[in-house]
Amino acid sequence: MTTLKTTYMGLELKNPLVVGASSLTADLDILKAIENAGAGAVVFKSLFEEQIQLEELEMQNELDEYTERHAEMTKLFPTLKHAGSKEHLLKLRKAKESLSIPVIASLNSMHPDTWLEYALEIEKTGVDGIELNFYTTPKDFEVEGKVIVQSQLDVLHSVRKALRIPVSVKLSPFYTNPLDVIKRMDAKEVQSFVIFNRMFQPDIDIEKEELIQSLYLSSSNDSRLTLQFTGLLYGNIAADICSCSGIMNGTDAIKILLAGATAFEVVSTLYQNGVGQIPIILKDIETWMNSKGYKSIEDFRGKLAKKNLKDPFAYRRAQYVEILMRTNDIMQKSKLV
Ligand SMILES: Cc1cc2nc3c(=O)[nH]c(=O)nc-3n(C[C@H](O)[C@H](O)[C@H](O)COP(=O)(O)O)c2cc1C
Repeated sequence: MTTLKTTYMGLELKNPLVVGASSLTADLDILKAIENAGAGAVVFKSLFEEQIQLEELEMQNELDEYTERHAEMTKLFPTLKHAGSKEHLLKLRKAKESLSIPVIASLNSMHPDTWLEYALEIEKTGVDGIELNFYTTPKDFEVEGKVIVQSQLDVLHSVRKALRIPVSVKLSPFYTNPLDVIKRMDAKEVQSFVIFNRMFQPDIDIEKEELIQSLYLSSSNDSRLTLQFTGLLYGNIAADICSCSGIMNGTDAIKILLAGATAFEVVSTLYQNGVGQIPIILKDIETWMNSKGYKSIEDFRGKLAKKNLKDPFAYRRAQYVEILMRTNDIMQKSKLV
C-alpha cells in the first residue's frame, strides 16, 4: 500500500502538499475546499504588521477629518479603535477550529519587539505552527546586508525561545550566500525552512507610463532555483526543507522530493487551476511512486540531493559552464537564423 504520509515541523501530515500563504488561505470557504481536496496542511495568510499600521493610519486620518467636521459626533465613540491584528487573530482561530488538517500561521513584522508580541498572540490562537516570513525588499542603499541578517537571527532567537509551537522560516533567495544564512538560522533550532518566497516585483504600463502592480503567478521554471537549493541543503541542516515557488504539477513535486524536500508549498497553481489541482498533484505523485515501486516518500526523498550523488560537479557551477560551452549543440541553429 503506497503512502504519502510525512512528518513536517514535527507534525504528522497525510501528504507533503502544503497550501502556502495567500489570499486563498484567508477565506474559510476556500480553506474548507482545500482540506476537502486533500491538502496535507495550510499556511494561513500572513499577518503583515505594515498593513495593520497603514490601515490604522488611514483610519486615524479619516477620524481626524471627521473630528474637525463633527467633533461632537466622534465623542460619542471614544473607544472606537481599529481592530488591527485582532481581526486577523480571530479569523486564524476560527480556521484552526474549523479544519482538521494542521494550520500554520504566518507573520511578517517590522520591529524586534513586535515580531515577538505578534508571535505570542498567534500562538494563543491554538495554531499548529508559525512561519516567520522574513520578507524584506531592499530599499536602503545604506543598510549593510549583514545588519539585516543579524536582525533576522535576533528575531528568530527571541521567537524560538519564547514559543512552544514549531517555528519555520520563509526566506527570499536574495542573500549573498543563502546557505550560510540558513546554516546560521538552523543553529537557532527552527523546525523548517521554506525556500523561497517570491518577492514583490512591480511592472510598468508603457502607455500610461505608470508603475503597476499586477498579480504575477509562477511557472514551473521558477522551481529550478528552489530545486537547486533543496538539493544543496538536504542532509546538511537539522531543520526540514519545505520547497516553494514554481511547483505547479505532479512532475515538479516529484522532482523537489527527489532533491530532498520534506514538504512543498503551492500557491500559483491553485490560482491558475483551482483547488482541483490538489488531488491531481497527489495522484500524479502516487502513480509515479507505484510505477517505480516506492511504498513511501522516505524510499526516494533526497535520492538526487547533492549529498547522495557521486558526481562532485552535480549542483556546481562547473555544470553550468559546460552547458554554456555546449549551447550551440543544445539550441537548434535553424530556429535562430
Ligand atoms: C496573491 C498572493 C498572495 C500571497 N500572500 C502571501 C502571504 O500573505 N504571505 C506569504 O508568506 N506569502 C504570500 N504569497 C507568496 C506565496 O505564499 C508563495 O511563496 C509564492 O507565491 C511562491 O509560490 P508559488 O510559485 O506556488 O506561487 C502570496 C502569493 C500570492 C500569489
